[in-house]
Amino acid sequence: MNAIRYALTPLLCLFLLSCGDRREVACADPVAIGFRTAEAQLSAQLRTNPVPGAYPRTVKDNRLYVTTLNDWTEGFFPGCLWYVYEYTGGEEWKQAAIRWTEALEPLKKLTHHHALGFLMYCSFGNAYRLTGDARYKAILVESARSLCTRFNERTGCIESWNYRRSWNGRDEWFYPVIIDNLMNLELLYFATRVTGDSLYARVATTHALTTARHHFRPDYSSYHVVDYDERTGSVLHRGTCQGYADNSTWARGQAWAIYGYTMAYRETGIPQFLSVAVRAADFWLNHPRLPADGIPYWDFNAGQEGYAPDWNYAPQRFPAVPRDASAAAIAASAFLELSGYVEDGGRYWMAAGHILNSLTSAEYLAQPGTNCHFILKHCVGSIPHGNEIDVPLVYADYYYLEALLRYKAGQESAHKQLASSSY
Ligand code: GLY
Repeated sequence: MNAIRYALTPLLCLFLLSCGDRREVACADPVAIGFRTAEAQLSAQLRTNPVPGAYPRTVKDNRLYVTTLNDWTEGFFPGCLWYVYEYTGGEEWKQAAIRWTEALEPLKKLTHHHALGFLMYCSFGNAYRLTGDARYKAILVESARSLCTRFNERTGCIESWNYRRSWNGRDEWFYPVIIDNLMNLELLYFATRVTGDSLYARVATTHALTTARHHFRPDYSSYHVVDYDERTGSVLHRGTCQGYADNSTWARGQAWAIYGYTMAYRETGIPQFLSVAVRAADFWLNHPRLPADGIPYWDFNAGQEGYAPDWNYAPQRFPAVPRDASAAAIAASAFLELSGYVEDGGRYWMAAGHILNSLTSAEYLAQPGTNCHFILKHCVGSIPHGNEIDVPLVYADYYYLEALLRYKAGQESAHKQLASSSY
């Protein structure tokens, strides 16, 4: 049923576009343009940085900034290579993806933070999906086991960080859980599917139910961080780390929420997860401060009255509030999947198409040979930390390519439907 809806949604959009607002067809073919840029940029990355080990993350002081198995972002570069391989079928892309993926194997034992899903599912998950190599399956299952060590039955969720002080050194944290953590759950559902051991899925679903209870306001905007008392499971504090203020909505956090609950619904069929995804998505799409090009400000409430940052916010530093293309790319990918799960999914499909058209414009898409060989421009890592403001980010590129592939798949199935309904 969902597959049929997924196919029919783009069909509906083609119909709407053919008889209505034609602005959406402005970008000739975001998929071909986006992947052409990706091929140029990533092959240049591979030429300048050929040995796996130093993983591109962003640009700092006009130079490529890399990380070495000490971050949460190393899975995205191999993930980008897998997506380019999926699009082109080129053997050289597959070999590069294998090299950059396999160098991450030691991370399967990581237990000192939560980002196993980002690190391992974006790399080894795609590797297994596209090659079927059983070694990758075993590595993913071991990674899932490592992630489960961070689960606590009393809190009902997976602890994100071991830090006991917030970034500003003032707030004390006891059991911090960030909305981003939802993105790690896909790895756990995978582990249950391939092992038959229900433990992993039980941890994932319990985490998602707990997060649904505590991470959202009545309008389904999200808190970035919820801190728990691990002895009683009660909530000690709700706030932010990377957003503007405790009561604001950090755009990438909201995108993680939409993506996370859409995925959790796919994996479980639990209606509550679909409902959270829809409400979080509608908060985003109906927000009066969402710019016309669909690329959000880094925080929906940045600089707004009624929101009090507890960091040194100097409005004169930001005459134009920075946008976050990474949040847009994550949301676009989530909207495309969500569009297949609801009756009126056309609006999510259209929203994703609009975002992809904007990201594929000269404003956001890098000219080959520039941008330190990243694909997208204008992202934000963390403004309160003074880090990564208006720069490329490897995870923006990853979710942009994923969204383009989802868009292409939807268009192809719509065309097939059109062809088979002609007679
Ligand atoms: N904390 C991961 C992120 O920046 O989205």
